[in-house]
Order: sequence, then structure tokens, then C-alpha cells
Amino acid sequence: MTDERLGAHGTSGRPSVEASARPGDGGAATSDDGHISIQNVSKVFAQRNRDPVVALREVSLEIPGAQFTSMLGPSGCGKTTLMRIVGGLTSPSQGRTLIDGETVERARRQRKFGFVFQAPTLLPWRTVTDNTTLLLDVAHDDAPVERVQDLLEMVGLKGFEQSYPAQLSGGMQQRVALARALALDPTILLMDEPFAALDALTRDRMGMELQRIWEEGRKTVVFVTHSITEAVLLSDRVVVLSARPGQVNADVPIELPRPRDMEVRNTAEFGEYERFLREQIQEM
Ligand SMILES: Nc1ncnc2c1ncn2[C@@H]1O[C@H](COP(=O)(O)OP(=O)(O)OP(=O)(O)O)[C@@H](O)[C@H]1O
Ligand SMILES: [Mg+2]
Repeated sequence: MTDERLGAHGTSGRPSVEASARPGDGGAATSDDGHISIQNVSKVFAQRNRDPVVALREVSLEIPGAQFTSMLGPSGCGKTTLMRIVGGLTSPSQGRTLIDGETVERARRQRKFGFVFQAPTLLPWRTVTDNTTLLLDVAHDDAPVERVQDLLEMVGLKGFEQSYPAQLSGGMQQRVALARALALDPTILLMDEPFAALDALTRDRMGMELQRIWEEGRKTVVFVTHSITEAVLLSDRVVVLSARPGQVNADVPIELPRPRDMEVRNTAEFGEYERFLREQIQEM
């Protein structure tokens, strides 16, 4: 892999068909459910007695269903804002986002989104199980007990069902937040620096766990991180946003075979992806 090749796909700022292909899946994903279409999205925050903040400028991205996309970019470049727009928590000032060709509001009503943020935001008075079923309760969805147990097992919390958040480590709390997001079986998982508060080892483990869950469930994942290594390790594609106002600065398909383990980080190809992405970020 040469830099020219990366550059050819990478720096156009436009999503390409190549950037959309999932390497090594042999066409296993049969449907394009969970397709995110971000069309010319800008966001301006009006501020009292101050100049408005242009957080995003004319961002366009096509994210096919079941793709794992990471977003990198300097602090304040609009990553969280973009995630909130995709998930319908904030509206864009210009442009639009479609989910499977329909409005974000409709996608929300159909419970297509799962959110995981930097802080787990668990309810301290609810047990692990009751935090996991929180959204199901809100949605009046009686999930079978076995499904909730499966989820907690999936995120490695078997045996802690009756514990309270205060009795868990930060990594365990974040895994409850992940289980809670997965409980409604969303088509799209929006993750905003979900592992930022974790120590390096837990973070690595959570990354591998997430990869496994993604391989099993084939969800569209949009993953914001400040770690270039984490982005390369987990993603089909890494989108680099420029400093504010955020614009797509590079769009790089990561064509490393899957499933990936930690060892892949020691390969020359992995190092080249890291170096290329670091250059893209440093250029800003
Ligand atoms: N509600 C708001 N009102 C005013 N300005 C806002 C609001 N939300 C975000 N901003 C501004 O928009 C810009 C982008 O913010 P955003 O949180 O999206 O950045 P980010 O890329 O997620 O940064 P970080 O990497 O630090 O999390 C920042 O300048 C921020 O101050
Ligand atoms: Mg942010």
C-alpha cells in the first residue's frame, strides 16, 4: 500500500465507492439497512453577544449499512455535533441527513439508533440489569429475560446483574452503557469517544469486544475517537475532519483483513495507515 493509493481514495473529501467497500466480507452483508446519508450538512451555533460558531461546513458522507466508520479530528472540530445531527438530537442549519432514505425523525421512531457516549450515564439506583432494560422500559418493550442475560454475557457482565453502578469499575459501567444501547437491537450504533475514560488495557479489551459484537450483529457503527491506532484497528474506513469548521479532510478505507487482533498493530501495513492518518491530522 502506497501513500499515493491512500491519497487517491483518501483526500478527495468525497466518499467513494472504494471507500464504502467492506474489505474481506465476500459480500456476506446482504442488505444495506442502516445506510446513513449526510448531505451537505452545516451547523452554526448562534451565541448571545458573540459571533456565531460555525461548527460544521458542508459535510457530505455516504455510510453504507454495516460499515464500521471512525471519525478523527481535532478537539472542537464538530465530531460530537455531527453525531448528534445523525442521531436526530440536534438539527442541522443547512443540509440534511437520511437514514435508509428516510428522515432521521422516522429512524428515531423506528428505534434505529443506539447511543454510547464518553460517560456511561447510568442511573445509580438501578441495578446492572435494570439499567440495561431502561430503554426497553421506556419503549414499553418487554424483552425476554434471556435476551437481557445474553446481552450482559456478551459484554462480559455475567454475574453482575444485580450490582449497582457504584459497585462497578469505569470499564464495567461503560459496558453496561453498551449493553443498554444494544438492548433495542439498533441498526445504527453511534459511539462518541466511548472508551476515552478507560485505562489502556481495558480500552484495548473493549475495542476487541466491540469488534466481535459488530461482526455478529452487522450494525452500522460510527465511532468517534482521538486514537489513530484505535481507529485503524477497528474500522473499515476512517474519516478525518478538519479543524473547525469541520469538513471532510480525508476519507481512508482500511483494508486490513478481519477479524483483527492486537497483533495486527505490529504489521508494516498498519503502521503505514497510522502514519498516513497522523500526517493528515498534522497538516491541519
Ligand atoms: N450547544 C452549543 N452551543 C454553542 N456552541 C456549541 C454547542 N455545541 C458545540 N458548540 C461548538 O461547536 C464546536 C464543535 O463542538 P463539538 O462538541 O462538536 O466538537 P468535537 O469535535 O466533538 O470536540 P471534542 O473532540 O473536544 O469532543 C465547538 O467550537 C463548540 O464550542
Ligand atoms: Mg466531542
